[in-house]
Order: sequence, then C-alpha cells, then structure tokens
Amino acid sequence: MKILITAGPTYERIDPVRFIGNFSTGKMGFALAEVCAEKKNEVILIAGPVQLNIEHKNITRIDVQSAEQMYEAVMEYFPKCDAAILCAAVADFTPKTVANQKIKSRGEELIIKLKPTKDIAEAAGKIKTEKQFLAGFALETNHEESNAMGKMQRKNFDMIVLNSLNDKEAGFGYDTNKITVILKSGEKYYFPLKTKKEVAEDIVSFVRRTSRG
Ligand code: C5P
Repeated sequence: MKILITAGPTYERIDPVRFIGNFSTGKMGFALAEVCAEKKNEVILIAGPVQLNIEHKNITRIDVQSAEQMYEAVMEYFPKCDAAILCAAVADFTPKTVANQKIKSRGEELIIKLKPTKDIAEAAGKIKTEKQFLAGFALETNHEESNAMGKMQRKNFDMIVLNSLNDKEAGFGYDTNKITVILKSGEKYYFPLKTKKEVAEDIVSFVRRTSRG
C-alpha cells in the first residue's frame, strides 16, 4: 500500500522571528511511518517542524512549516495514496497578517488577529474515494468518545484514534501513548499504555485489516 502520514506541529508565522506553535513532537507520526515502511508499504511522510530523523528506503519525507503548506502537500499526495493517517497537530488558527519586520516591544498590550486555518482532514475526507482509507486522531480533554465519534463523522474518517490528555504519560512528548481505536462501524478497541512504536503497530494493523487497498 501507499500510505500518507502527517506528523508533528505546524508553525504559524507572526513576524520574521516568531510563530504560534504547539507541543507536538512528531514522535507518534514518525513511529507510524517507520512501522508502515517496515511492513513494506510506501510512505509519504508530511512532517511539520520536528527534531526527528528518519531514514528508510520506503519513506519519502516532505517537510512543511505551516498549516497552509501541509494542506497543499496533502492535497497533492493524498489522491495518489491508498490510505492516509493524519496524526499532525495542525494549528487551528493563523495570524491574519504576517508582519514584515520584527514586532517591537513597546511595553504595551499586543493584539494579534487570527483567522481559522483550513481543516486538512475535512478536505481529505471530501476528496476521499471508495477505495481509500482515512484515519484521524483526536486529542480530547472531556467527553472523549462522543467528541471523537462526532469528529470521525464530520471529517469522513474510516477510523479515529483517541488519546486523552487525562491519561498519565500519554500524548505530547512522551514515548508512550494510550489509545482507543473507534471504527466507522462504531466498534471500539481499548488499549493499555504502550510505547509509541507498539501503538503504531496496533494502528497500522487496523489500517491494513480495515482498508480495501
Ligand atoms: O478537530 P481536531 O483538530 O481535534 O481534529 C483532529 C484531527 O484532524 C487529526 O487527525 C488532525 O491531524 C486533523 N486536522 C487536520 N487539519 C486541521 C485540524 C485538524 O488535518 N486543520
């Protein structure tokens, strides 16, 4: 199979030296790329700014910075893939205007106007064909399962991986993660705390079993 994976955060520029970002390290997405490649899939890894290296003959890495750049890359490559796993923590907002010069500190309040970014997952869900499989992630802090299921329907995912910030040692930055997999059919699978590599193995086995590719 040819599998597209998005990973890491996005950086939204404020001025030439500053950005709005988030704490995503890309570890989960890179673990997914590694597992997919080891299982002889062809991987297109679209990575936001991360401090990670990955070398595998089956992986083509495309580095992007902003949500807009990630959107463009996904729109270009998803139609050529059998499946996509959207693991990136994409910024939901980006500055309305980017200052050409470094914004000076004048000891006053600064108001930066933000506009919503494009929802990459929703756009991928719209162009998804019958033969393609789309998996997304949801990081929730409350009403986790119902929020995740709503997200899966809205974005036309075939599967959603839920991780909760309420779980210790799971999520941003950790080498471990604790997930619940929810399929389009409504079936739910609860997993214990595992390394991100093991979690990636679990996720990829669902993608391969459930997809028709
Ligand atoms: O709505 P929320 O951001 O929580 O949805 C999370 C899922 O949507 C993840 O799979 C994430 O990669 C994807 N997403 C995206 N583009 C956005 C926002 C989220 O692809 N602009």
